[in-house]
Amino acid sequence: MIPQSFIQDLLNRVDIVDVVGRYVQLKKGGANYMGLCPFHNEKSPSFTVSPTKQFYHCFGCGAHGTAIGFLIEYSGLGFVEAVKDLAQGVGMIVPEQDKLPPAQRAEVQAKSMALSEAMMKASDYYRQELRGAQNAIGYLKNRGLTGEIAARFGLGYAPDGWDNLRTVFSDYDAPALVEAGLVIDRSEEEGGGRKRYDRFRDRIMFPIRNTKGQVIGFGGRVLESGEPKYLNSPETPLFQKGLELYGLFEARQAIREAGYVLVTEGYMDVVALAQLGFPQAVATLGTACTSTHVQKLLRQTDHVIFSFDGDAAGRRAARRALEACLPYAGDDKTLKYLFLPAEHDPDSYVREFGAQAFEQQVRDAMPLSQFLLKEVTQDNDLSNPEGRARAQFEAKPLLQAMPPSGLRLQIVRGLAQMTQTTPAEIEALFELAQPVARTRVAPPRTKRTPPMGLERQMIRLLVAHPALAAGVDQAAIDAVAQLSPDNAAMLTQLLEACWALGDNAHFAALAEQLKSAAADFDSLIGEIAAEVESEPEAARLELAGAIRQTKMQVLKAEMERLASTGLSTEEARNRYRELMQQQEQLRRQAEVEATSR
Ligand code: UTP
Ligand code: MN
Repeated sequence: MIPQSFIQDLLNRVDIVDVVGRYVQLKKGGANYMGLCPFHNEKSPSFTVSPTKQFYHCFGCGAHGTAIGFLIEYSGLGFVEAVKDLAQGVGMIVPEQDKLPPAQRAEVQAKSMALSEAMMKASDYYRQELRGAQNAIGYLKNRGLTGEIAARFGLGYAPDGWDNLRTVFSDYDAPALVEAGLVIDRSEEEGGGRKRYDRFRDRIMFPIRNTKGQVIGFGGRVLESGEPKYLNSPETPLFQKGLELYGLFEARQAIREAGYVLVTEGYMDVVALAQLGFPQAVATLGTACTSTHVQKLLRQTDHVIFSFDGDAAGRRAARRALEACLPYAGDDKTLKYLFLPAEHDPDSYVREFGAQAFEQQVRDAMPLSQFLLKEVTQDNDLSNPEGRARAQFEAKPLLQAMPPSGLRLQIVRGLAQMTQTTPAEIEALFELAQPVARTRVAPPRTKRTPPMGLERQMIRLLVAHPALAAGVDQAAIDAVAQLSPDNAAMLTQLLEACWALGDNAHFAALAEQLKSAAADFDSLIGEIAAEVESEPEAARLELAGAIRQTKMQVLKAEMERLASTGLSTEEARNRYRELMQQQEQLRRQAEVEATSR
């Protein structure tokens, strides 16, 4: 479980317009952004995203939620993954434990600090060691790298020997060193002498940095031959391979300047390309390209070129990359695939054929549409119906993975042509969003809500403007409790949620917070998401008015009860007078507020 406080911080940092905008084409319309709803078929936009509420809402199907909710609905991620995904994008690390007491939370933080610090120290040490290591320097020189490039990527050398890191860390037995993946503990059964030893020995070290530039892992290459060729840091709290791209930190500026990013498969490709005039290259870390990778890349640039070997393995990798790209393919994105001759990677290609030839390869890279059509048609004989149907069958999941866009339509057209079908037939066959048939009329905007009690009005105002909860006192809750116990329970839950938010008391944050409340706030949240946002000041006055009226009603009820007893005792008369005074006070408050309006 992830602490609520983290969720709130996260919602404060991400912008829902960015998040939704990655999947849905949005146009600014008034205060909101509008687009075609991704959750139902429609031809005219009834899907809105509010930057002030940080909430989306569809007038057509009623779908609504925060940036987190959107990711869950849209990409089928679980809650935790969705939060991690968003956090990743804004450089936040999701804490592991839920509701830790402050002391423990500090401990977790200290731990992650300890890991970062250990990685930094190790990285400094390896870099230092490279200076005097003639064999390692010779190897790098031999591969055509200069000292300048080695320095830019922070390359280093882990010397031979079992426990060199002893000289770096005063406490070689510290648990952080195992957790960081810098050392390995030999298990008891294995016996032998040494219990703990350095993971990286006699290897060229490639530090892997996160987007903030902190070292989060290493890749270590053997100098000549040996297994494995590359030894990588294990997955640690700092480092998850499927999420990281080698060289992204170093390449960011160059990507902006070049207008595109080049995705390769190897450490050496990135470093060598930077050396040879292509500093806009990054690499996946020996794993298949994931959609998280694609997302990360598209945050840097809308033009991504993937490079693969021309052999079967390269094709398979390219296919995975294609699939990872589909959900993000859109009219404003350029995604291309470059196939080098078999037995070549970018490093070896540039060295053999030169930078210009490589530049030409980059220019000639295959656009996504072409690659997709090639993938589904190349193994099928389009001269017979079975072959054409088979091609369609293979294209179906790929097209379904794409968001509706002009690009998708173009691919549908291309496929239709190649398979002797019409685009409309393909759209229908594939059950793609917005075929021609049904025009969908968005239902009228929320009708005037039925007249509601004061308590209900208070609840609505607080959901829309949770920050107002700071001004609600216990007396108000008590008053509501006397008038309508049911609503009081809901109001109390709501207030508690608002108060818990503190400075983060915004609509979207509250909506997430209320998911764990006992009462069902969802339909109310939907209603409010659909409304034009009210002015906070107007809402404040309205809330104050509703609270006052509630208190007034409670006073009145008690005064009537007392009056019906004939006010026969001194005690009753005193109480009646007190109530009258309170009433008068409330009236005066109302007047003050009326004039301040
Ligand atoms: P390659 O074997 O293609 O190596 O692995 P390379 O990048 O061309 O390396 P050089 O040119 O021989 O130095 C591609 C990537 O796969 C991962 C690494 O990320 C590597 O960069 N890999 C490969 C490993 O993690 N471990 C290995 O043993 C091999
Ligand atoms: Mn290589």
